[in-house]
Amino acid sequence: MMTQYEQMKALIAEMDFNPYYNVVNGDDYIDLASNNYLGLAGVEATKKAAMEAIDRYGTSMCGSPVANGYIDLFRAAEKRLAEFIGLDDALIFPSCYQANTGVFVTLAGEDDLIVVDTRAHSSIMQGIKGVRCKVSPFRHNDVEHLEKILSRSGSHARRFVVTDSVFSTDGSVAPIGAVVELCGRYDAVPIVDDSHGVGVIGKTGRGALEHFGIENFGGIYTASLAKAFANNGGVLAGSFDTIEYLRHCCSHLAYSTAVPPAILGGILGAVETIEKDFAQLSKKMWDYRRRIRTSVAEAGMTVLEGSSPINAVFTGNPRNTLLLSKELHEKGVLSMAFVEPSVPQGECLVRLVAGAGLAEEQIDRACEIIGDCECVTSWS
Ligand SMILES: Cc1ncc(COP(=O)(O)O)c(C=O)c1O
Repeated sequence: MMTQYEQMKALIAEMDFNPYYNVVNGDDYIDLASNNYLGLAGVEATKKAAMEAIDRYGTSMCGSPVANGYIDLFRAAEKRLAEFIGLDDALIFPSCYQANTGVFVTLAGEDDLIVVDTRAHSSIMQGIKGVRCKVSPFRHNDVEHLEKILSRSGSHARRFVVTDSVFSTDGSVAPIGAVVELCGRYDAVPIVDDSHGVGVIGKTGRGALEHFGIENFGGIYTASLAKAFANNGGVLAGSFDTIEYLRHCCSHLAYSTAVPPAILGGILGAVETIEKDFAQLSKKMWDYRRRIRTSVAEAGMTVLEGSSPINAVFTGNPRNTLLLSKELHEKGVLSMAFVEPSVPQGECLVRLVAGAGLAEEQIDRACEIIGDCECVTSWS
């Protein structure tokens, strides 16, 4: 029996196309694979803020935040992010992957219970694996199932409920309002990864908490700063006490080299731009989304429901996925191909995200290419 990896390698060889680790020159393609939702990676204000930080502090602090890496810019970015998200305080990890792998092992113990959406991001699943406690998965976005699990969780010392806000694969938005309400009722701590929500959803782009009107969150919030924020790093936010504890006890933060000055400067620049330009940028992003979805339908393909800017085109199996991704690539469009184990078996998809940084003409061209896709006729 071939492993999944071997099967994929064979398929890639047969199709003479590998969508992964493909060296690309962004200039030559219309990039619908990126998470640059608002287009801030190319915006002057973000670039200038990053360059000014390099001028002042150099390229790296060459030390962890617990030592010499905690520059004034670091603290300023933490405070600014906490204020933006609407929580007491925040930490900035080198990546959200690192924040998600660090948080569980630091906070949870053997007597606790972690209840997690089955489709939560890989970094969350990896983080949970680091804790020797009971883990109960709940069906994707299914609050009834979540409640059933919580209602039988009385024997555990503490309960954590974990979910993404916007799922990066299918583009669905989790019922965070109901999740937080259930957590309150069953004395559980919500942990929400808002990587694809912050800078994207909410009236002013402040993410899931704003989108769902949550004022007393009482939980832990993580998000990547490498998506709508167009930088790098991962923010972890929560109450003063929790943040203070993690600041000192989470080794994934304390013993890893601090996020570099350019990134900290870039994050501050991005917050400023989002506060100023969100309305106009998000309007463009949602308009592009509508147009991409129309062109997918024109080609006879199905785009999953979802209510985020992520357009998940259902391909079902790895062969169809590669066929679509290859055709788009050959015609000049970058896409993200999701096959097992990134998605459940039989639920492969090609993800298309049209960020606000793309030009109208690029969207016109992308829609033409997508609408004329021929591979669907040879799908199995
Ligand atoms: C939901 C989610 N969480 C966490 C991460 C990891 O973020 P980072 O790239 O900052 O490590 C990603 C990135 O793919 C993500 O989609």
